[in-house]
Amino acid sequence: MNRQLGIKGPMVSAIGLGCMGMSGAYGESDEKESIATIERALELNHNFLDTADYYLAGHNEQLIAQAIKGKRDKAFLSVKTGMMLSPGGYGGVNGHPDFLRNAVMYSLQRLKTDYIDLYTLGRVDPNVPIEDSVGALAELVQKGVVRFIGLSEASAESIRRAATVHTITALQTEYSLWTRDIEDEILPTIRELGIGLVAYAPLSRGFLSGTYKKPEDIKDNRAHMPRYQGENFYKNLELVEKVKMLASQKGCTPSQLAIAWVLAQGEDIITIPGTKRVKYLEDNIASENVRLSSGDLRAISEILPAGVVSGTRYPERFMSALNR
Ligand SMILES: NC(=O)c1ccc[n+]([C@@H]2O[C@H](COP(=O)([O-])OP(=O)(O)OC[C@H]3O[C@@H](n4cnc5c(N)ncnc54)[C@H](OP(=O)(O)O)[C@@H]3O)[C@@H](O)[C@H]2O)c1
Repeated sequence: MNRQLGIKGPMVSAIGLGCMGMSGAYGESDEKESIATIERALELNHNFLDTADYYLAGHNEQLIAQAIKGKRDKAFLSVKTGMMLSPGGYGGVNGHPDFLRNAVMYSLQRLKTDYIDLYTLGRVDPNVPIEDSVGALAELVQKGVVRFIGLSEASAESIRRAATVHTITALQTEYSLWTRDIEDEILPTIRELGIGLVAYAPLSRGFLSGTYKKPEDIKDNRAHMPRYQGENFYKNLELVEKVKMLASQKGCTPSQLAIAWVLAQGEDIITIPGTKRVKYLEDNIASENVRLSSGDLRAISEILPAGVVSGTRYPERFMSALNR
């Protein structure tokens, strides 16, 4: 299933592939299986591949380059930039025009391509006017190295200002059954402006799949996120039990219910469940076959109303970079 991204944007797969976990974000990964997962996505015509230059310092882009070799035209490459991640953690953001002009050249080299389909400012830099950052991205469109421009986790005000400089095709932000912060202001704003939504972490980083039973099961970056710690973990686990119950009523897995719910929130939304395994990719793609009626959606809202989750989705230092 394809959807149009943004009112004037390209047709892309409604279920894409988030590649971040292939580069160490969520435990160890196997390169062969990661590459096979990307290849399988393309084989199944799920072309939207999401990466960032800051996923293990370009490692993620290099993996993608291997998987799309000889079939660049089959892939829609969504690349984020402007955020600084290091093995030690968060290193701030950089939306300076010079940084962006430089970063894209390295991404092209690592991806072994001469264009990026969707180039997204990973976070808004509070020290650089958004008009300047987007102005630099617009130059890249003019040069022909970028096709479409995106923003990630931006505020409604920044989105409006950015859209005065150049067409913004998509906003990438976290959106899932229990992360619904964008519904009050951001979603109406992008709808008004004809900007599509790329919903990331539709499984709440795997939690909604029902895989995790106790906080100690999580040994990677997620262990630093308040939502997956101590008491919050157990309160949220009760919600996962409800998702499991709803899924069994629909004859699907909890992950499939979670993905289908995101897609049911509007034709202007696509989602990018992340996985490094062919099996999960295929299961996630099968969510397209889960049809949620308006009655189902109402029942889900009653059982899991907005704001029901316990704990913030990022640690404090990361939260401050959201909604700027
Ligand atoms: N713009 C941003 O700030 C931002 C932030 C975070 C992520 N992203 C992008 O969004 C993508 C998706 O988000 P995410 O990966 O953080 O979270 P997610 O998609 O909610 O969940 C990924 C986790 O769920 C597991 N999983 C996937 N499918 C499953 C299935 N069918 N059954 C059981 N477990 C399953 C994965 O396991 P395995 O790893 O074992 O396969 C992984 O641990 C990322 O890959 C990245 O490209 C963007």
